Amino acid sequence: MRNFILAILAMGFTVITVSSCYYDNEALLYGTSKPCTDTVATISYAQKIVPLFQQSCYSCHTSGSPGGGIVMGTYTTDKALVTNGKLYGCISHASGFSAMPKSAAKFSVCNIAVIKKWIDAGAPNN
Ligand code: HEC
Repeated sequence: MRNFILAILAMGFTVITVSSCYYDNEALLYGTSKPCTDTVATISYAQKIVPLFQQSCYSCHTSGSPGGGIVMGTYTTDKALVTNGKLYGCISHASGFSAMPKSAAKFSVCNIAVIKKWIDAGAPNN
């Protein structure tokens, strides 16, 4: 009887462990536990792109003290980095570009995809 109870406990523990691994993997893939559902129609510069840059880029690229002489923070400055190809090169850690955000984790697969879709749509000021 004692062994039976131990076996049940062990099985319960295994189920809990396996299911928590599943959620960890999803979080790693998407950056959050939400699936990556944004389409061009739902991506707006003001609503999606600026918050990401605010969180991870603008603090080092202000006009007062721009890292590497790169200024960000307005549509004009951010669009210039799209036009010269540096924005996507840096966030995707492509060779020949400095990896950004500097000294921090790479953007999640989902966030990189969101920025790429915005760029491919012509980086609209929407
Ligand atoms: C901790 C400060 C810091 C953060 C955060 C940061 N940068 Fe930078 N960035 C720098 C510095 C310093 C340089 C210049 C030196 C270098 O290239 O590493 C630079 C260079 C760049 C360059 C020019 C690189 C090249 O290859 O020509 C771009 C474009 C850029 N950053 C964009 C971004 C973007 C986009 C983000 C957010 C995803 C970001 N940065 C976040 C400090 C930062």
